[in-house]
Amino acid sequence: MNHTQSPRRLLDRFGRLHNNLRISVTDRCNIRCFYCMPADNVDFMPKEHLLTFEDIERIVRVGTTLGIDRIRLTGGEPLVRRDLHLLVQRLAAVPGIRDIGLTTNGILLDEQAQLLKDAGLKRLNISLDALDATVFKAVTRRDGYERVLLGIQAARAAGFSPIKLNAVSVRGLTEDQIVPFGHMARDTETIVRFIEFMPLDADGQWQRDKVLFAHEIIAILESEFGPLRPVGANTMVVVANGPLAIIGNAATHAPAQDYEFADGRGRIGLIASVSQPFCASCNRFRVTADGKFRNCLFSHEETDVKTTLRSGGTDAEIAELMLACIAAKNEGHEINSAKFVQPDRPMYSIGG
Ligand code: 5AD
Ligand code: SF4
Repeated sequence: MNHTQSPRRLLDRFGRLHNNLRISVTDRCNIRCFYCMPADNVDFMPKEHLLTFEDIERIVRVGTTLGIDRIRLTGGEPLVRRDLHLLVQRLAAVPGIRDIGLTTNGILLDEQAQLLKDAGLKRLNISLDALDATVFKAVTRRDGYERVLLGIQAARAAGFSPIKLNAVSVRGLTEDQIVPFGHMARDTETIVRFIEFMPLDADGQWQRDKVLFAHEIIAILESEFGPLRPVGANTMVVVANGPLAIIGNAATHAPAQDYEFADGRGRIGLIASVSQPFCASCNRFRVTADGKFRNCLFSHEETDVKTTLRSGGTDAEIAELMLACIAAKNEGHEINSAKFVQPDRPMYSIGG
């Protein structure tokens, strides 16, 4: 069957069309952020369980026949996967793929930024939760702050623009980092995005009272820089009987709601995954490093594609697995409900 002529798309029961595939290439990482990994003795996937570059390319080719046109490579830390730029090169050559992004902790970027750019990587998100080396170490439980800064410089030199920084915000830990990040956003070409801490850590440390909420982050920024102005085509800002409610940008499916400073210099984003879930406009579909499709970060079921790949399955069979996985997608996460149960896989094993 020729899927290029198929009208089938990755449409779920709630009318959400999925064109965005997030591919985890490894669960390994060179740091140990507490919101994602255990501190020590991590049980990594055996190397032979990982999808090969051939496997990944095949999934992407099949995905394009169902409307996938955007890809993001994640981990663990994707840059610890050997020769990652060769995967980028292969995926960039797949007809129908319009955009390839990468989310990295930046530690190995100094060595790889130019290779990745030359291979066809378009967008780069670098995770950096603190601009203070001591706080960086408290979060990551490893050294490496200076290397991340070098990595950011290398990414700029290689021509990535704009570079987005992801800063997970945690109550009692990162409040003091917000204003310095605000200055960084204003003084450099960097878009800083603050992310609410989600219950995806390995040690079950997440508690609602550790979430530094988007409206609190805005208040801290506004007290230093004056009023922030929401930007984006379909921005919805609801002023209820309380703090500003921020809703991700429904037009672009971006989870971040961007804000400009009053004088127009600099831009920051808020990813309010907990306080204002953006599930209603979610267009994301995931494959884990060990070959399981996941329709949501928080899902409790996954669809094994590796066995099909390794046992001579056809493209049509792989397409059926994707369609079935999307058909089973729930309306959204239930972090704000008493029923919520954290998934068994922590973030490093799902892929961010
Ligand atoms: N909550 C919020 N963000 C997280 N990330 C990883 N774990 C969590 C969590 N528990 C972020 C990382 C990275 C991206 C892949 O996801 O900081 O930027
Ligand atoms: Fe999409 Fe699931 Fe994240 Fe909601 S929680 S935005 S459905 S991945």
